[in-house]
Amino acid sequence: MAEHITRLAVFCSGTGSNFKALHRATNEKYINAEFVLCLSNRSQCGAMEYARENGIPALQVSENQFPDYERFAAAMLDTLQENRVEYIVLAGYMRKIPDAVVEVYRDRIVNVHPALLPKFGGEGMYGIRVHAAVLEAGETESGATVHMVDEVYDRGRILMQQKVPVLPGDTPETLAQRVLACEHELYPRALGKLLSEQKA
Ligand code: GAR
Repeated sequence: MAEHITRLAVFCSGTGSNFKALHRATNEKYINAEFVLCLSNRSQCGAMEYARENGIPALQVSENQFPDYERFAAAMLDTLQENRVEYIVLAGYMRKIPDAVVEVYRDRIVNVHPALLPKFGGEGMYGIRVHAAVLEAGETESGATVHMVDEVYDRGRILMQQKVPVLPGDTPETLAQRVLACEHELYPRALGKLLSEQKA
């Protein structure tokens, strides 16, 4: 019998460098999965462009396209189900996943966060703000975390973490760069492990 290839949707809001690293890993069969959908809260972003260039449908599904939050959540869920998505991979997605989607995809939504959770997580902690807070706190190390997503920001079960040193003279931007390079290696490894364990 042919081996099952897991159907993934990636949710992005920005450049999508993590998406690119993950896509490379699926292309190289390092991860036995395929991206069938790229979803964004934005009308356009680097990740959507990359998806389209690579034959992956890219759609905007945003709260402001709908009269209320329930209809937004229902439309997101419909889009996922129409595309027979099995796992959701968040890669620089700067919005909360609606509870109705978490409920249906429980233990099947994964995120990468640019710090060592549970430190420097929670509402409002994303992107460059995370690195600014790490420097402000005088930390000597930071890192990246891959974790499951539930109803509370950055609270879900941690799958894998990797430390990154904070160096003298670091700015939020230089630290972000070093952590991002770590994410590109950590995220494919963590997702590959998770999916292979689910199949075992
Ligand atoms: C990454 O550093 C990711 O960890 C972070 O946004 C960046 C997206 O970069 N995500 C969060 O802060 C979520 N809380 P990318 O678009 O190049 O993958």
